[in-house]
Amino acid sequence: MDFVSEDNITEIAMKRWGTAKNPRTAQLMKALIKHLHAFAREVELTPEEWMAGIQWITAVGQISDDKRMEAILASDVFGLSMLVVMMNGRLPSGATPHTVLGPFHIDGSPELPKDADLSEGVEGEKLYVSGVVKGLDGKPIANAVLDVWQADAEGVYEAQLPGSEDYLRGVFRTDKDGRYGLWTIAPKGYAIPMDGPVGKLIEQTEISYYRPAHFHAIVAADGYQPVITHLFRKDAPFLENDVVFGVRQPLITPFHIHQPGTGPGGKAMKQPYATVEYDFVLAPAA
Ligand code: BEZ
Ligand code: FE
Repeated sequence: MDFVSEDNITEIAMKRWGTAKNPRTAQLMKALIKHLHAFAREVELTPEEWMAGIQWITAVGQISDDKRMEAILASDVFGLSMLVVMMNGRLPSGATPHTVLGPFHIDGSPELPKDADLSEGVEGEKLYVSGVVKGLDGKPIANAVLDVWQADAEGVYEAQLPGSEDYLRGVFRTDKDGRYGLWTIAPKGYAIPMDGPVGKLIEQTEISYYRPAHFHAIVAADGYQPVITHLFRKDAPFLENDVVFGVRQPLITPFHIHQPGTGPGGKAMKQPYATVEYDFVLAPAA
């Protein structure tokens, strides 16, 4: 029998974890052990560094609850979330690409009629977002569902505001011509939560902890693959260095600024306002 040595411990640990009854669990655990050990060997991990890592992981758990998911934030800023999204969401060219869901989506948003305003009573520059949901063949898709959510002008989501309800989120459907339209406020860029262990780690680096101004959407229709995505404002700061790596070129879109007057749908606009016209392209269901 081989007792453990610095040379053989990786092999022995992989063999042990390879006994997991589910073959996929065995594969995942063996690869995890292999790469963890390779990391420790490559950097010649010291006991103090190992303990600092353990304390960091413990702090990630301690600050988390059902609304604050610090482990997801860690995965986001390490680029792991986007890697998993991209590997598992390969779509034909021309389809609207996926990006991270993020921690602030809330299920069950109210269904609103076309051209409704999901920002009633919320301060900010008015924005009208509209376009067509279509297939790769260019055919408009009627009755497609758009589940949208965004931060307010301070960069805050409903999920971060205890007690608030139906704040800057809603569900819209396309009409018979595949068109959707909604009023909201222009989203602003914002900092990810920096008061936890992820923030403490980022503060030791030169990493910018901002996300560029964006609007979230999940777009779904019968017979098509749903897409979890964002729209990014073209002239927004931080497009090149989004802290969660979420920006994909086809999702960058101009916001057109208009002077007061008659806005889309005949709405009287007393202040300057913005419009975005963006078509979502869905790939057929596999
Ligand atoms: C978001 O866009 O809402 C988000 C995504 C990842 C981390 C933090 C926020
Ligand atoms: Fe966001």
